[in-house]
Order: sequence, then C-alpha cells, then structure tokens
Amino acid sequence: MINPYFQQLPGSYLFSEIARRVRAFQEQHTGRPIIRLGIGDVTRPLVPVAIEAMHRAADDLSRSETFHGYGPEQGHAFLREAIVSSQYLSRGLDIEPDEVFVSDGAKSDVGNIGDLFDARTKVAICDPVYPVYVDSNVMDGRAGELLPDGRWSNITYLPCTEANGFIPDVPSRNVPAPDLIYLCFPNNPTGAMASREQLAGFVDYANRNGSIILYDAAYESFIDGDLPHSIFEIPGARTCAIEFQSFSKLAGFTGVRCGFTVIPKELIREGASLHALWNRRQTTRFNGASYIAQRAAEAVLGTQGRAQLKETIRYYQENAALIRNGLSSTGFTVFGGEHAPYIWLKTPDKLTSWEFFDLLLNKAQVVGTPGSGFGPHGEGYFRLTAFGSHESAEEAIVRIAESF
Ligand code: MLT
Repeated sequence: MINPYFQQLPGSYLFSEIARRVRAFQEQHTGRPIIRLGIGDVTRPLVPVAIEAMHRAADDLSRSETFHGYGPEQGHAFLREAIVSSQYLSRGLDIEPDEVFVSDGAKSDVGNIGDLFDARTKVAICDPVYPVYVDSNVMDGRAGELLPDGRWSNITYLPCTEANGFIPDVPSRNVPAPDLIYLCFPNNPTGAMASREQLAGFVDYANRNGSIILYDAAYESFIDGDLPHSIFEIPGARTCAIEFQSFSKLAGFTGVRCGFTVIPKELIREGASLHALWNRRQTTRFNGASYIAQRAAEAVLGTQGRAQLKETIRYYQENAALIRNGLSSTGFTVFGGEHAPYIWLKTPDKLTSWEFFDLLLNKAQVVGTPGSGFGPHGEGYFRLTAFGSHESAEEAIVRIAESF
C-alpha cells in the first residue's frame, strides 16, 4: 500500500534536520542570538514594483470585471511573454512563450519532472548536490539501494572536487550513458560556475548519447561577468535540455512562490515530445501559480523591476564577498561566493561536516549547512549563505574568527 521507496529515504530532509538541531540547541541555551546562514532563504523585502503589482492584482480580484479564477495551468500569457523577452530574447535566445511553463517554484518542478520517466531511467547527479534531485529519484524508485558510503546503487555520481574546480567531467565512458543528467549552475552548494566550454561538453555528450540535461538555473542572477545564464546559450541545447528557473533568488519570492520550466519542442525521446508530456502532466496535476504571484513576477521583469532587483542582488553579493574574504583572512580555505550566494569552505582540522556544524553552533552560535548533507563528496566541507543582512554576515565572521 505504501510506496516502498519512501521508506528507503533517510530520516528527514537536510534542512528539516538542521532546523531540528537548532531548535534543540535553543531549548537548552539562552544567550546571544543565533545567526542563521544555513538554508538559502532570502531576507530582503520585495522590491517596490513587486509590492505595487501585488496590490493592483489584489484589486483586480476585488472586482467582478477584472476578477481571475483558475488561470491557464501553464501560466498567464502576460508572464510567459515577459519571461521570454527578459530572460531569453534579451540574450538572443529563441524560446517561444508556449515553451515556458510557469509554476509555484523550481523545487516543485525539479521534483515533479520525474513523473515523465520510468523507474528504469538511469540518472547522473553531481556530488555534492541539492538534495531534492536525489531524494525525488529515490521516491520514484530510480535510485536503487542506499550504500554504506551514502551513495545510491543505481545513481551515477559526478564528483565535484577541489581538483576539478567543483565542475564535474561528463560521465565516464566506463559507465552506461545516463538518461538524465542533473546540472545546477551557479552551483548549489559549492557556488562554482561552469564556463560555456564546460557546458558545451555536457550538451555534446547529451546529444551524442540521447541523455537529457535537467538544468537548474535558479541562481543565474548572481552571475557576474560573461558566463552562460541559460543552458540554451549553448548551441545544441534545444534537443537535449530542460531548464528550471525561479523567482525565489532572482526576486526574493521564496514566500511568494513562482518559478518556471522551459521545455523546447525539439526535445524528443523515444518518439515522445517532453513538452507535450509535461503539458499533460501539469494540466492534470497543477492548477497554475497564483495570479497575484504571476503579476508580481511580470512586474520585476520590466525595466524598472530589473533595476530594483539589481540592488537587492548586489546587497547579497556584497555579503558573499564579505564572508568569503573574512573567512580567507581568518585562514579558512574558501570557494564559491563569486557567481553564487553560497560560500563553500573546507572544515578546519579535518573535522567532519557535522562536527563542524555542532562546533560552530556551540562556539559561535552560527548555523550553516554541513557539506556531507549534499552528498559523500561534500564531507569535510561546509556551506554558508549570503542571504542574511550585512550586519549578521559581519557578526558571523567576527564570531567565527574568535572561535577558531
Ligand atoms: C538551499 O538552501 O539549498 C535552498 O534554500 C534550497 C531551495 O532553494 O530549495
């Protein structure tokens, strides 16, 4: 009766486990406030254009002439068109509005996309990795058995290490070509960013082997410089890639909820159009993102909205630089934080990631995320986010420096 694969999952989702340990610590200790640099959740208020658009949308809902009930499951045309023009046409990329599926966030889509694939589908993921890619495949029965080293027997792992700059190589010739390859750039958790050439390597591989790249671009707004913001900047991606995007990090919508997925119509496997399958899936299981959220998303993609967003992103980028530089000068080995809101550091004194988590919580009252929670190659690393305030980032660095 119960889906047996759920029972294979480890006890709790990574961020729930962190929240549980922090609560337990708080119950036993009073004293200075905890600084939370664990989950990558935004803290800055929404930009004015988003708030104004939400007020206007609420007014629309208050009058019968402008009222909106169910919208299209794929998203309102006004938002699909705004996404194409702001995120794709502006970069010379040919994406049609009806290739964009608006949703309540990238996390849902990244998990739900598994509905299109059967249990024999072979999956490759980076290690370390955003846990949703792994856990959702476990739930769907594609992961196999959990091995003692924390890997799953049927998943192909693409190690991201200091030696390869945390950018994995394409799967080795010695393993069967995976059907699905999950990539996320700028990367969560390591903060690494892939070059055009590196992404082109994956696109070539996928087209040669019939793989599909599931490309999570949730952090693209943090890219600084001439690097690819979308997998569709890479020639050939339209026949092998699906892209997930989010307004959570772009516009601070973690509580508003809005994201989108782009599936090109040329993406065909075993004679089936992935675009048509996803449309079928969404129309059956999803009733569209909220009208108010979609109006706010449309607004932030306009000229004024983009200018306002830039300020917020800059604020977080300053935090990232502050944490990165502060930790380096304290003697930590630090990565990421340049094109991403995540700083990836090596734990000192060969501490395990969870040992460092507990020590940091006890000594500095700073919460981060243990690297091992993102996969076996994350062991010995630790992630801090830049999504707090300047004051908390500064204070965290002072406390860490005093403690180590
Ligand atoms: C994280 O901390 O990795 C993110 O908050 C995850 C997410 O966006 O769901």
